[in-house]
Amino acid sequence: MSPPADDARRAIDPSVYRAPVGTHDVLPPESDRWVHVVATFADRARRFGYGLAVTPIFEHLEVFQRVGASTDVVRKEMYEFEDKGGRHLALRPEGTAPVVRAYVQHRPPVPWKVWYLAPHFRYERPQKGRYRQHWQLGAEVIGVDDPEVDVEVIALAHGVYRALGLERVRLLLNSMGDARSRPAYVAALRDYLVRHGAGFGDDFLARVEQNPLRVLDAKNADWQDVIERAPQLTEYLSDAAVAHFEAVQRGLASLGIASELTPRLVRGFDYYTATTFEFVSDALDAAQNAVGGGGRYDHLAEDMGGPPTPGIGFGIGIERVLIAADAERGEDAPPPRVEVFVVDALGGGAATVLVAELREAGVSADRAYGGRSVKAQSKLADRSGARYAVILGAREAEHDAVAVKDLRAPEATQGEVPRREVVGYLRQALERDRRPKSYEI
Ligand code: HAM
Repeated sequence: MSPPADDARRAIDPSVYRAPVGTHDVLPPESDRWVHVVATFADRARRFGYGLAVTPIFEHLEVFQRVGASTDVVRKEMYEFEDKGGRHLALRPEGTAPVVRAYVQHRPPVPWKVWYLAPHFRYERPQKGRYRQHWQLGAEVIGVDDPEVDVEVIALAHGVYRALGLERVRLLLNSMGDARSRPAYVAALRDYLVRHGAGFGDDFLARVEQNPLRVLDAKNADWQDVIERAPQLTEYLSDAAVAHFEAVQRGLASLGIASELTPRLVRGFDYYTATTFEFVSDALDAAQNAVGGGGRYDHLAEDMGGPPTPGIGFGIGIERVLIAADAERGEDAPPPRVEVFVVDALGGGAATVLVAELREAGVSADRAYGGRSVKAQSKLADRSGARYAVILGAREAEHDAVAVKDLRAPEATQGEVPRREVVGYLRQALERDRRPKSYEI
């Protein structure tokens, strides 16, 4: 194709070369914090015996329709499309349905314990902490209805927030009941809402008709009084549901994990049964204070054509976690990415060899390119945040040495080190004052 003519070039709308509304680029240095969050999660998931599951970014529309015919996420916010073969597909709005679909398709032995890292898509009204593409770290355990699994899953999420240094995160807990408790409650709730919400309009009535539970998590301010006084699910739990829920609470207490019973916590998907939970940060605005949430979904596999198979899991929003960290302790500058910067006054080739040796030895190292002056290279060394600069100078080269400069010493101290010893010398020096392996996000 020939390049556009000048006129056509001028006609291009510059806004198309910006990330679409509600999405964002994650670039260095911010992405260093992402690496830390993801690595913390992956490490914990490994310790708990979970394996990584990677599913497609889109699925057949029906996979997601299963999870919430009455929910906003499915009804109004899905990125649906038809592909060139006429298939109806949707970008993943949430992570549980794809994992359960993969379980039903592959039937791995249970308990099937998996974790994931994935972008999620919801056509929401963008605001701070609410995006059209957000990222979740999540975990699911399929095939066991033992309340000890609920405890383990919640403990996994809880440990991640702790490891990330978030102190103002609280755990809200509820039980949605089982197949036996739910219908009686839904009938009582519908009856109550019809009696008390007569003047609330069509949206309200549609929710009451389709699934009255969806009224409980509605944000509409005018409805809140009625919602406050609505009958509570916990009053309708069957004996089996109560026993399960109590065992979960005992297990959490035995691990020293504090939880707050929150009877109106219904969560935004239709698949939830029994234990549901949400982690909220008191450092965030109430409208977007959930830094993670999840629960049981004991009928989802069956709804997707699999055998009756219980499941439980959660998702943690990476952006929300980072905003919560900023709100708790202010925005810290992320740590520098390299430890050593090589300044080459000999023409560039010597730097190529030295950075290669340093990197092989486990030291993070960088250099300048394009034959820049020593002054310009020194500026870049300062800006890189590196702890040490190595200067490859002609004078030192005469006796096979290099200069090493401690860039953080109050008075720049510079010493000579034999060239063949410099890698070992720097490794030792860095080992002495190596920054803590995990840093706060
Ligand atoms: P969710 O509560 O919809 O649950 O999302 C999980 C977390 O993702 C939220 O707590 C929040 O931190 C983050 N999040 C959700 N929507 C947005 C958004 N628009 N922008 C930024 N962050 C957002 C689920 O998705 C379930 N699949 C969780 C689960 C797993 N339940 C069982 N297993």
